[in-house]
Amino acid sequence: MYRSKLIYKWVNIEMIKFRNKIIQEEKEVIIEAVLTTLNSDKTPHFSTAGVKLNADIVEFYLYKSSKTAENLINTKKGVINITDSALHIVKSALSEPDFEVHKTADTNCFYLKNSCRYLEFNAAEAAEKKEKYLIRADIISRNNLREYIGFNRASNLLVEAAVMASRIGISCSSEEARNFLQKNRRIIIKTAGAAEIKCYNFLKKYLKYPGG
Ligand SMILES: Cc1cc2nc3c(=O)[nH]c(=O)nc-3n(C[C@H](O)[C@H](O)[C@H](O)COP(=O)(O)O)c2cc1C
Repeated sequence: MYRSKLIYKWVNIEMIKFRNKIIQEEKEVIIEAVLTTLNSDKTPHFSTAGVKLNADIVEFYLYKSSKTAENLINTKKGVINITDSALHIVKSALSEPDFEVHKTADTNCFYLKNSCRYLEFNAAEAAEKKEKYLIRADIISRNNLREYIGFNRASNLLVEAAVMASRIGISCSSEEARNFLQKNRRIIIKTAGAAEIKCYNFLKKYLKYPGG
């Protein structure tokens, strides 16, 4: 009995140490995540945004014209999905995907089934910053689903291509985005798995890129 209590205590301490390590490392970077918000008919809406986590607070910038900003202003709640799937990040930014989701426990919102981990949040403030809002939100739960697969060059390049594609007409031309895909085609194909090839084909179609 005494031994099992000790093991339980040790596992708890290790879990807290692991959580604190993640919280510390998160503070230093912007993480590209899939955000889930709720539409007025309670269906999930997906978009991609860079988030800055700091312990129990998150900050991110959203274009005022985005559906995500509209949903957050209406419902004040959402989910940050942290994933290694370029396909989910790219499709969330450039289309209206229909991903597999599950209901969250605390906010009645949705998380991506494919996430490595997800964080539920309540939006506390939307400060006006020119054409964007700076959203500040309180994180109300952290949930781990699976391990992060690891750093993949194809995924990285596909996400960069999607950033360019999402800025066409703002700070990038379709030609520049197509050239980027062309320039990195060989590395993408060499390092991609099936999901990344699907993502590459999606981007080719989106950008009307005729190459192989
Ligand atoms: C990797 C990546 C990061 C992005 N980060 C942001 C961001 O931080 N804020 C933002 O407003 N849009 C960002 N975008 C663009 C949005 O995902 C895109 O404009 C999307 O269409 C907005 O969707 P919505 O209008 O349906 O909310 C990003 C796109 C990509 C590919």
